[in-house]
Amino acid sequence: MAETKNATLTIEGKMIDLPILSPTNGPDVVDIRKLYAQANVFTYDPGFTSTAACDSTITFIDGDEGILLHRGYPIDQLAAQSHYLEVCYLLLYGALPSKDELAGFTKIISRHTMIHEQMHYFFRGFRRDSHPMATMVGVVGAMSAFYHDSTDVNDPHQREIASHRLIAKMPTIAAMAYKYSIGQPFMYPRNDLSYAANFLHMCFAVPAETYHVDPILAKAMDRIFTLHADHEQNASTSTVRLASSSGANPFACIAAGIACLWGPAHGGANQAALEQLREIGTVDRIPEFIKMAKDKTTGVRLMGFGHRVYKNFDPRAKVMKESADEVLELLGVHNNPTLQVAKELERIALEDEYFVSKKLYPNVDFYSGIILDAMGFPTSMFTPIFALARTVGWISQWKEQLSDPQLKIGRPRQLYLGESMRDYVPIDQR
Ligand code: ACO
Repeated sequence: MAETKNATLTIEGKMIDLPILSPTNGPDVVDIRKLYAQANVFTYDPGFTSTAACDSTITFIDGDEGILLHRGYPIDQLAAQSHYLEVCYLLLYGALPSKDELAGFTKIISRHTMIHEQMHYFFRGFRRDSHPMATMVGVVGAMSAFYHDSTDVNDPHQREIASHRLIAKMPTIAAMAYKYSIGQPFMYPRNDLSYAANFLHMCFAVPAETYHVDPILAKAMDRIFTLHADHEQNASTSTVRLASSSGANPFACIAAGIACLWGPAHGGANQAALEQLREIGTVDRIPEFIKMAKDKTTGVRLMGFGHRVYKNFDPRAKVMKESADEVLELLGVHNNPTLQVAKELERIALEDEYFVSKKLYPNVDFYSGIILDAMGFPTSMFTPIFALARTVGWISQWKEQLSDPQLKIGRPRQLYLGESMRDYVPIDQR
């Protein structure tokens, strides 16, 4: 982080010098840490559109160019040549693993896939029709009650164990949330299967029959996990960092991240996007929907379009689109009406002046739902799958934050617009 330039801010004739920090990639950052002490002013940036809240070495996004790098490696290369557990290692430890390191890491993760048997009873406390995200927020938060020996955030060894537990157990928890919601028995994990194949097994196998995981579906599942692994300081990651800044335990922090991810403007968009495609139903209804999405008074947005950072094609969406074609081909889905609506909607939106001028491109959620639907997942499972895949990103950012000597509790300021001090009025005088 080189500091070579300065900015000068003038407030009522007083000049304040602010250092400018230069990152490896991306725009320079004006360092305002001492601004309040020097000038008695705060900065105002709702939604953090121009504010860097931390430094990080994990993920870089260039939204104008449509670039996403994990530890410097482009996402399209990782999606094509790597796989999820290798990407997990890369995000957690900063470098691609050797063969031995990868084998060791895979063994550790596969040995932690089971959850404490008593947690099964905890699941049974939820209503059968609970959304699997609601169950996940509760169960992941409850891990701090079951795994006390990995909640001391000041102990690097405990932090490591908590990381492994979360990455390993999240597919089990997501699959159990699904099985519970459809009234089927929980399927125990199978450690002889790959991470993605095991997840498909836990979701789709039943004790009464033998279930064979199709390797192409396992590959597609793995790719969905890889494409969602991390995305720098998005809302849920920032939530995890903010929760963790108080010293909260890792399971509580990740539960906070899951809660934030659930919203339709974030991870909940994959469910919302597919439901909207179904609501549109047929290609002839697309113009009507596009018209509504452009009219702010309707409150309708085209789900799966637009992104805070990408003002170009989301690089993950490109890979996801290819995967969608592969999976649908494998499953023999050619005339799926939802897919037809999606393709036509994409074509029209990419030519429409409103979407072009606002740089609204399809995001990763536009295509992931189509694949997950074809694989047999209900829409309510789309966001839990995103959450399980993103867990490694949250954990990597959490670990990075805890090893930062500059760590402070996160405490934003405000622009107060309420009443000034006034005297209390007794109830009989109001
Ligand atoms: N449909 C119609 N108009 C849109 C859309 C959309 N999907 N997205 C943005 N706009 C318009 C806004 O109305 C606004 O118009 P204006 O400038 O005339 O006021 C302009 O584009 C900018 O939109 P903002 O909401 O200010 O952009 P922001 O960066 O805050 O929001 C967001 C990004 C939340 C993703 C937004 O594009 C959206 O709601 N998209 C639909 C939901 C979605 O797909 N979310 C998934 C995000 S990716 C992820 O989390 C993995």
